[in-house]
Amino acid sequence: MPQTQPEKSLPFRDTPMLYGRLTRLLHWTIAALMLWQFLGMGLKLALGRQPIVSFFVGTHQKVGTVLFVLIVLRVVWALMNRRNRPGHGSGVLGLAATLGHLALYAAMVLIPVAALLRAYGSERAFAPFGFQIFAPQTPPIEWMVTFGDMIHGELGWITLALIAGHVLMVCLHEGMWRDGTLRKMAGRGRA
Ligand code: HEM
Ligand code: HEM
Repeated sequence: MPQTQPEKSLPFRDTPMLYGRLTRLLHWTIAALMLWQFLGMGLKLALGRQPIVSFFVGTHQKVGTVLFVLIVLRVVWALMNRRNRPGHGSGVLGLAATLGHLALYAAMVLIPVAALLRAYGSERAFAPFGFQIFAPQTPPIEWMVTFGDMIHGELGWITLALIAGHVLMVCLHEGMWRDGTLRKMAGRGRA
């Protein structure tokens, strides 16, 4: 009688077929928190000063700082798994997917780094959780503040467009090519 293969639970590390549990946890947590940041800043632009907007604005630095830590962890974990994760195939589409993911990584790192540099160089103390992380600078470090002002918001909105493209590509993979791309990251909890 043919034996049915017992279901294996999801691996912790990535494999060439699937992203592992830690990569998935980081991907979806970071995605949700980044969308929270965009929602708050979008409401601020659309509605101006409103109680609901103040609530979102009040969480922005805290969530952003937590995001920075999660993103550093994600980069380290991706590097540790780099030889053992799902590939994107050869050809132009494969190259575009690799470059698209690299751009998302670059943006994920640069957006909070720019804001944190600006906070470090500022004449105000940085204490998002109620205790001081960066002391005030007197005088402020101009290049850090200017760099943060130039990069943080602008790159933020460009990245939102990049994320929209990323989600659109996932929809195309699911709707047209049906090649199991979403399953590699979402799955059903089983390998
Ligand atoms: C990945 C994490 C983050 C994302 C996606 C994000 C995104 C954004 C966006 C889209 C804006 C709106 C810019 C505009 O008004 O046009 C903004 C503003 C702002 N963010 Fe963040 N942010 C993040 C992390 C942080 C961190 C860590 C800090 C604090 C150190 C911070 C502090 C600020 C401040 C003070 C503003 C208002 C001033 C400005 O427009 O630059 N953000 N952020
Ligand atoms: C609802 C929104 C999202 C969906 C449905 C989604 C879906 C996916 C899927 C299916 C993959 C696997 C693609 C493959 O390997 O071929 C993936 C990978 C990836 N996604 Fe997303 N994603 C979302 C949001 C985001 C956000 C907000 C970011 C960060 C800015 C992001 C960054 C990445 C990166 C860098 C990869 C490459 C794998 C890795 O190194 O972690 N995604 N995403």
